[in-house]
Amino acid sequence: MAPFIATTSAPVNIACIKYWGKRDTKLILPTNSSLSVTLDQDHLRSTTTSRADPSFKEDRLWLNGVEENIKSGGRMATCISEMKRMRKELVEDVDASAPKLSTFSVHIASYNNFPTAAGLASSASGFAALTASLAALYALPSPPTTLSLIARQGSGSACRSLLGGFVAWNAGELASGLDSNAVQVAPESHWPDIHALICVVSDTKKGTSSTSGMQRTVETSALLQHRIKHCVPQRMADISAAILARDFDRFAEITMADSNQFHAVCLDTAPPIFYMNDVSRAIIAVIEEYNRVALLPENGGKRKAAYTYDAGPNAVIYAPAANIKEIISLIIHYFPQQDAFKDPFGLFGTAGVGS
Ligand code: ADP
Ligand code: DP6
Ligand code: CO
Repeated sequence: MAPFIATTSAPVNIACIKYWGKRDTKLILPTNSSLSVTLDQDHLRSTTTSRADPSFKEDRLWLNGVEENIKSGGRMATCISEMKRMRKELVEDVDASAPKLSTFSVHIASYNNFPTAAGLASSASGFAALTASLAALYALPSPPTTLSLIARQGSGSACRSLLGGFVAWNAGELASGLDSNAVQVAPESHWPDIHALICVVSDTKKGTSSTSGMQRTVETSALLQHRIKHCVPQRMADISAAILARDFDRFAEITMADSNQFHAVCLDTAPPIFYMNDVSRAIIAVIEEYNRVALLPENGGKRKAAYTYDAGPNAVIYAPAANIKEIISLIIHYFPQQDAFKDPFGLFGTAGVGS
């Protein structure tokens, strides 16, 4: 009998409108919708191999070569059992000759080609690759938007990494979470000119995980409630329109405003959470000055770059391809020291946004 095995990769996505807050921590239902750009597979990605075998005694997981405990009732266990349920319902119950893989245990090995838990969205690519790999192993007929419902239960941001290009995660309204899925706003081919420059300020594990940080924000921040009700809905509509119109100036304005508001909400948390450091803030100053000059009428009057920061100090700079060389020279000019601006993983390059 041929082995039942499948390997799949998934890229990271970096949000322009940030997800920060859960209304249901078990199902991972967010307090607000979010929107991101999925980077292409050539750069930051997770690669996951899943194998099912009747001889396996229990589900096991190795992350970057080290075995991790699969906590019963935890996120990893939920994703695996949901995928087994789909295998049974969509394949085995429909075709009596299909091998009963849903009754076998699985062994899963995953590798990230970039720092794990450093604010570069490893949970997003990690749980997307896990879901995609089990979907391939189980030969599920489900489209990415359906699979996003499962990846979401591993890590919220993971639901967006199952689709390429510009992706929205609808907060949804149902208590079941069945309408809290990821949908493509536009494919990468709609706007291939946008590039992402990843500036690794620090590759160390962050002090406060996204999961615990956002929970603390939900419990203590009044500013979060203002953000959810009065800011995010309009921004979601405006940035989707900017993407469809390929309006970089507007895209950049909204992306930077939302990153800054997300970090303001972290500061409004008790005790406060600081994800950015001095180098992160200095990069903001450089890009703000670059845009100030670009916004002068004699220079065209439009922004040329957008910074955004997730739950960590590392900058992602979105810009049209034509500006990337200039931005790299600027960054190297202002951050010449090896320590302040290092590139141990070869990440200091540009990434297209395809999937
Ligand atoms: P990040 O900013 O990197 O997303 P998080 O705190 O959100 O950091 O999540 C990090 C956690 O995501 C890890 O501790 C691990 O549990 C999980 N994770 C990361 N990579 C993978 C992977 N390839 N497969 C499965 N889980 C992963
Ligand atoms: C700042 O998806 O890592 O990157 O759902 O608890 O696993 P969990 O959190 P996670 O949070 C990501 C937060 C963010 C913003 C974003 O990606 O939208
Ligand atoms: Co994460």
